[in-house]
Amino acid sequence: MQVVKHINELQLILNKMRMQGLTIGFVPTMGALHIGHLSLVEKAGQETGFVVVSIFVNPTQFNDQSDLSRYPRNLQKDVELLAPGHCQLVFAPEPEEIYPEPDTRQFNFGSLEQVMEGKFRPGHFNGVAQVVSRLFDIVQPDKAYFGMKDFQQLAIINEMVRRLEIPVEIVSCPIIRESDGLAMSSRNMLLNPDQRKAAVHISTTLFEAANKTNGLNVEDLCQWVVKRINENEFLNTEYFEIVNSETLLPVKNWNESGEKVGCVAVHCGKIRLIDNMKFEVRSA
Ligand code: PAJ
Repeated sequence: MQVVKHINELQLILNKMRMQGLTIGFVPTMGALHIGHLSLVEKAGQETGFVVVSIFVNPTQFNDQSDLSRYPRNLQKDVELLAPGHCQLVFAPEPEEIYPEPDTRQFNFGSLEQVMEGKFRPGHFNGVAQVVSRLFDIVQPDKAYFGMKDFQQLAIINEMVRRLEIPVEIVSCPIIRESDGLAMSSRNMLLNPDQRKAAVHISTTLFEAANKTNGLNVEDLCQWVVKRINENEFLNTEYFEIVNSETLLPVKNWNESGEKVGCVAVHCGKIRLIDNMKFEVRSA
């Protein structure tokens, strides 16, 4: 496995691989890797001939500067984690390599970016679209792998690829959880032991709520989730919404058509955690 920092180096290697007839799989990350990231790499390894993982903490997607400075960084450990798996090339550029000039592009994803993360983290998805489109330009992958953990991000990327007609197949991968149910996240390592214990309450509540679609209407269930999470002294819910998985618009009634997903963002001390779960509605 090679680690490269420069675009020209990366492209020389990728051109050789393409000439050998290999398809390129791409997993963009911000590092501080965990098993959730590795599951994407594994899937890419099963489906493509040559796997590139990028590690880049993208400054333009952080609307909160203290979140950016706090974000965990450890390239050496990430490389050690990736080495035994399917990754063949790590691309770990400096910000100047990705943004030789400030990126002033403004994307418009309509209602997809106006809800949930988009509402509470203004500019976040514009930054994600900037960096992912730039990385797609550089790597030109056949397939790119994203986790459903960031459900709204996945919807935004799909929309961006559709609108810009980028020739890449987006593959969505399931959420990987800790053994107690907490969704794996690079931010989990910033939690102190009390916060880590409290954080499991988020997924536990989502699992419980997903089983209550028979007993409560949508509005009451949303209120129940927020109340239940906030009962824990370390947790403070920013939003909980049950949305249509394609439009991301709030579901008002269980009998609406389409897949329904409950999405939550919770502050645990200074750390902000997100999670989501499919809500199946069984007919009585
Ligand atoms: P990052 O948070 O490092 O996540 C990289 C990829 O790993 C994303 O597609 C994310 O959804 C996926 N992922 C994270 N935790 C996961 C889990 N528990 N189970 C499954 N997949 C998981 O998302 C980003 O970085 C950035 O916004 C990026 C797309 C790299 C652009 O900067």
